[in-house]
Amino acid sequence: MPAQHNKTEDDITAEVLQRFAETPNPRLRQIMLGLVKHLHAFVKEVELTETEWFQAIEILTEAGRMCSDKRQEFILFSDTLGVSMVVDLISHRKPDGATESTVFGPFHRLGAPELPAGGNIAHLDKTGTPTLVSGRVLDLDGQPIAGALLDVWQAQSNGLYDSQDANLNGLHMRGKFRTDTGGRFLVRTVRPVHYPIPSDGPVGRMLRATGRHPWRPAHIHFVVSAEGYEPVTTHIFDRTDEYLSSDAVFAVKDSLICDFARHENPTDEAARLGMVPPFLTADFDFHLKPATKQRTTVLDAQQRLAALGAEG
Ligand code: BEZ
Ligand code: FE
Repeated sequence: MPAQHNKTEDDITAEVLQRFAETPNPRLRQIMLGLVKHLHAFVKEVELTETEWFQAIEILTEAGRMCSDKRQEFILFSDTLGVSMVVDLISHRKPDGATESTVFGPFHRLGAPELPAGGNIAHLDKTGTPTLVSGRVLDLDGQPIAGALLDVWQAQSNGLYDSQDANLNGLHMRGKFRTDTGGRFLVRTVRPVHYPIPSDGPVGRMLRATGRHPWRPAHIHFVVSAEGYEPVTTHIFDRTDEYLSSDAVFAVKDSLICDFARHENPTDEAARLGMVPPFLTADFDFHLKPATKQRTTVLDAQQRLAALGAEG
């Protein structure tokens, strides 16, 4: 049949789909066909103009230029468009007693120091309320997991992560903790605060142009892992935070909301660590499910992303 040249919009879509139809890898074929189908449908539905198409190219170019080993504007786009949480929900579908996951976010950094139980990740933070976060890492039967690793990170009480703070050079508000034989961990920090996600790039412009606020409710990040178990990437959230219902990145899950109790009098543990009242305590247990298949973990992916960012 002679090639057809006077094509309609739908002819183009059909032809592109046909070009991908023989992709040997079935999963890649499914993804490419779905991508083309939905991308073309979107362009046709909104009748995207050439000017808007150029704007999109500019935005993506700027996002790429902003990325480094300290900044990931594409993750920020994914988070603020809700894509990260849809992927999270698809990947962790069943409520099976395991701790629920939530977004990884763009502020994890490799190389946090391993600290002893009670180690202070907030040693340079002089304005936050001292806080002890304790708990256990357990399996689905409630048995303690000894030697589990908790990779913890958090914003400072000024609302900035270390990588955003011009007054700081190294790592701060980050640590790795191991559970003891009873599965227990103890992290010393300061009270988490709500903070705005970075708004100095294309994601910030999108939020302003669409009348959205940039705030995330107060939280502490964890990646909890142990040999033979599926790692979980998650947060604990402060129950009293005003942004729990309007998180800029849609990441709050009820099971991750935690009480931060205020103490006006000393406790043995706080005294042993040299903490004077007032201080807060939060208690949260993580439940891990057995590993099923070998997956790329979020930290493997982070290692590759950081390497890409560092090359620029
Ligand atoms: C964070 O909690 O660090 C974060 C998550 C998503 C977007 C921006 C920040
Ligand atoms: Fe955060």
